[in-house]
Amino acid sequence: MQFIHLSDLHFHRRKNDNRSITNMLQFVAENYPAHYLLLTGDITDDGDTTQYERAAEALSIFKGRIFICPGNHDFGAAGMFYEQKRASFFDEKLSIPLAQQGSFAGATRPVVNVARNSDEQALIIALDSNLETMTPFDFACGEIGEQQLQALNEILGNYSSSGMTKILLFHHHPFMRHDPFMELKDAERLWATVYLRIDVLLFGHKHVSQMWTDYGGVPFVLAADNSPGKDYAREITVTSAGVSVSDIAIAPTALTARKSSPSKRVSVRKGGRKRKA
Ligand SMILES: [Fe+2]
Ligand SMILES: [Fe+2]
Repeated sequence: MQFIHLSDLHFHRRKNDNRSITNMLQFVAENYPAHYLLLTGDITDDGDTTQYERAAEALSIFKGRIFICPGNHDFGAAGMFYEQKRASFFDEKLSIPLAQQGSFAGATRPVVNVARNSDEQALIIALDSNLETMTPFDFACGEIGEQQLQALNEILGNYSSSGMTKILLFHHHPFMRHDPFMELKDAERLWATVYLRIDVLLFGHKHVSQMWTDYGGVPFVLAADNSPGKDYAREITVTSAGVSVSDIAIAPTALTARKSSPSKRVSVRKGGRKRKA
């Protein structure tokens, strides 16, 4: 079972402004027809209805193999001016049409989906990390919140012996500190909740691609950049042997280059240490 991690698409109103996004999505759809997609928020640029409609239209081809969570730009204009109606549009225009098993606006519980193929199952847990406040200069900051953390703790307990690979996605960057505009305020509590209990943790927000292995009790911690216009994204492969991560081409020129120079794959065996191949 394979996943592609994309983030921060930032759909605009005008079709012409979305060309690099739709080209990239078309490329992914054609070249990776069996991969699941994981989208870590900021799907729209301001959370307005036309932007959501553009996003829904472009993402509809992935229905049944896409998992999403919201970012600060989805819930508010300029990513800072939270509005409840824009948060509701996320569910109305994206979560429901894309068949997510739950809603995000004002949510107090994570949205839990299961990805399956004939051999494997993976638990996909999506959080709303938006700080839903009307104070504009708080808003690009994030917070998981007490209720969502408690529910996450309960879900991880329920599935602890399931043998399923567990992937957690949310938008805000959990390593940003002392940044009054961008940080995830309860990141430390989140780390304590997920320690040694999940396999892959994914986020976006900062628009900088990075990977950490064996960090905070999590085998893979992956930050995505803003995917449109980029050459590569990360591919997560789940097999009975464990999880591995490598780069994957999301643009035609990168696909050609990658065939002559394959990327490094980092693997973690179930119950074992990481190895590089
Ligand atoms: Fe963003
Ligand atoms: Fe963001």
